Amino acid sequence: MSGESPGDAPRTGEITDRILVLFTEVYAASEFDRQPLPCDIYTQEGVVRAMKGQRVPVERLANSWIWVDKTFARLRGQAPVNAPVAAPEEPLPAIAPRVATHPSQSARTPAAHGETQEEEWREESADQLERRSDQVAFEPFAEVRAGFKRNLHQCKELFQKGFLGRKIILTSKNNKAISESLVSYLDELLTQPFHAADYIELVNAVRQPENYTTYAHPSGVTFYAMAIMRKLMMLKEDFLEKRNIGRWLPIKTRKNPRTAGALPFSMQLSRYFDSQKAGILLKYKEREREDLLEGMNDLMHEYAALDMARDWPSMRVDYSRPNRLLVGMAALNCDIAKLILPNEVINKPDSLDPVEMQMMQTHPLLGIFLLKEVGFDSPRVLAYILGHHRLLPAGYPPLRNNIFFESRIIGIADMYDAMRSPKFYKGALTHEAAIVELEKIHQAGAFDAPLWIAARHTFREFNHDLVATRNRLSIAPA
Ligand SMILES: [Fe+2]
Ligand SMILES: [Fe+2]
Repeated sequence: MSGESPGDAPRTGEITDRILVLFTEVYAASEFDRQPLPCDIYTQEGVVRAMKGQRVPVERLANSWIWVDKTFARLRGQAPVNAPVAAPEEPLPAIAPRVATHPSQSARTPAAHGETQEEEWREESADQLERRSDQVAFEPFAEVRAGFKRNLHQCKELFQKGFLGRKIILTSKNNKAISESLVSYLDELLTQPFHAADYIELVNAVRQPENYTTYAHPSGVTFYAMAIMRKLMMLKEDFLEKRNIGRWLPIKTRKNPRTAGALPFSMQLSRYFDSQKAGILLKYKEREREDLLEGMNDLMHEYAALDMARDWPSMRVDYSRPNRLLVGMAALNCDIAKLILPNEVINKPDSLDPVEMQMMQTHPLLGIFLLKEVGFDSPRVLAYILGHHRLLPAGYPPLRNNIFFESRIIGIADMYDAMRSPKFYKGALTHEAAIVELEKIHQAGAFDAPLWIAARHTFREFNHDLVATRNRLSIAPA
């Protein structure tokens, strides 16, 4: 999404095609008193006030804003956008309908609840997603496939919206219960890294612009945030609290024969993964196995090189299961408010203008209001959401207090996932390019060293070329 990166300065540059003007600048308000609206209308803050086709009293039109293209403004000799202008004498011709920016958008869906509102693009349904997941190139563990299918239906249920009077609302009343169930599944899954690798590979296999908002992005962010939490937990418990890092080192691998220890290789592996299922490595061919081990070896060496005398903020975080679940729930819902922002802004291919940028930046706060309305009242979850774009002073929203460190974990997962996602307005970055971008944000001071190490290794572990193109041995899934 535009505005994903807290390091981004507001974008200027390209002239945008559309600008916001007062409704009364284009239409005679009196003609639309309780009549179907000719287009969506917005508040001055840019939040949707009513959708095209809805009927609202004339008083609500007086201070409403709509999108028009710049040509219109030029023809009208447009005054500054923010200056209220008297209604024109004659109603102008209706504004051309919004233009779809993707082939799939030509299929329009009638909105729920009998409204005549039109969707900008069609979100892929859970069933369509499920069907495509059946055609992916590899055969994941059966239980992973089952969990994946359940999750995608849950996600789709969470991200539903409807219309009540003039308001767009979330319609999933059991958001909290669904979020809990989904993240406790992921928490369990992450204890087995190669089941987890299957899961994220499935998510990536079905990832499309058509399911970005309501499935792929929330799933990815939650997965990565929880995976990073586990790596930091391992570090905190075994390294800082128990002073135990030595038992992981050295690890013998083929590339690193000098580090061969006296223990049989299989036992070293077991220790390396601690309680995790090292045996699943058998699913990989030798080269991949070595690469994965080298990656984990690097992780341990980087951990070991940390200055233990320093007070790292990430080492003060509570990594117990309850808090891991709360972080997961926040990650899952952190962008839920984008459901009610106008699609022109969400999918805009060009830079956002200041008004649109302002609109985009309401989403953390707006999300909290929406979640409260559906009974989602966990204060910590809401606080984690609030700070997820506030990693640098330039981030948003402006907050007086320090953010919870957990928000940074969600923030880095969010940025990585957004950079790696195909969207309507731009393609995905490669893993390497995304890491380069994140490195800049890290250098600006957004993350502490343990978080940066844990995150970088998490992303590599699940997005390394060898994982994407891995050549599995023909062993039947357990
Ligand atoms: Fe966000
Ligand atoms: Fe996001």
